[in-house]
Amino acid sequence: MHHITTIVTGREWATLTWSDGLTQSLYAPWLRDNAQDSQTVHPGNGQRLIDIADLPENAAFRSATLSTDGSLAITFDPDGHESVYPASWLRGFAAPAQDPYGPRLWPTGFTVARFEYGKIIADRDTERNWLTAIARDGIALVTDAPVEPETVCAIAENFGFVRETNYGRLFDVRSVENPTNMAFTSAGLMVHTDNPYRDPVPGLQLLHCLQNETDGGGSLFVDGFQVADRLRRDDPEAFRILSTTWLPFRFHDATVDLQARAPMITVDDKGRVVTIRYNNRSIAPADLSAADLPAFYDAYRKFSHYLRNPEVEATLRLAPGDCVVFDNMRVLHGRKGFAPGKRWLQGCYADKDAVYGRLRIGDDKTVQQM
Ligand SMILES: [Fe+2]
Repeated sequence: MHHITTIVTGREWATLTWSDGLTQSLYAPWLRDNAQDSQTVHPGNGQRLIDIADLPENAAFRSATLSTDGSLAITFDPDGHESVYPASWLRGFAAPAQDPYGPRLWPTGFTVARFEYGKIIADRDTERNWLTAIARDGIALVTDAPVEPETVCAIAENFGFVRETNYGRLFDVRSVENPTNMAFTSAGLMVHTDNPYRDPVPGLQLLHCLQNETDGGGSLFVDGFQVADRLRRDDPEAFRILSTTWLPFRFHDATVDLQARAPMITVDDKGRVVTIRYNNRSIAPADLSAADLPAFYDAYRKFSHYLRNPEVEATLRLAPGDCVVFDNMRVLHGRKGFAPGKRWLQGCYADKDAVYGRLRIGDDKTVQQM
């Protein structure tokens, strides 16, 4: 465990040096705002009791001393507020740990991890391994679940809540006559993310197989983050266009007209791809200027070719009792054509934060609420 060796303070800034040589700059208003004392945060639930506007505008260091237990005791100007900062708390900002549940791009030869339903229910470690696979790989397969309608909702409720939509609490995927949606035909489907016309877009999709008597109908999955990364390497300009061009998506039927605008590839403040929205059926006519259309179409076409011929993809032939759970903001799914009437899946959506929230329980014993 590293400890603080020295602290040098100015008015607004202080510099810590750690035992491994790491240095850390601390800004007085930031420290004051994030004080851990009982006047600043509730001792029971850890929630902040003050608002930034309650604090002096010109918070500065009056004194800073290292305690014998290694923590840092600060007295602030101008109000004389005192607070103590544990070394482990400060260190977490000097060298943030890697997110254990962050995405890991599929390697060549990737296979979808499989977990028996009974073990997920009975054994907390198996449940954690299952949720970790969903978080890291963006996909995991549950096997040997009951072959009963509505089981898909019970599986989602192991870790979170079913996200109900205008399709209902769950949706049936099988061929019908006069389909309102191409999902309900026996045609093959280009890989896609579901429902980019929703805001927010569904985070997780679960598909539970109740019947599959066809030779065809294999389900195809593609790591959208991997494909987007490849596009960024090969053609940075195409990646830039798809990650900055906002596009309209739309679904409408007799009861609802859902519309949302978003880029095809969403990148966060650290340059990481966080969401893919790709759906050839529900992308609406791009409302771009004439000057931007040609380059957009070049980038869009290139991304589509990459998705059809990805470096990595996974194929699953779902058997009755199988339920695939995947990150709908990352993993695209599609299927090959099949003979009508012999394949029945039930699907539902759920939010991703439930998975991460459940995984982090046990990682950190401190109670923190928003
Ligand atoms: Fe779909």
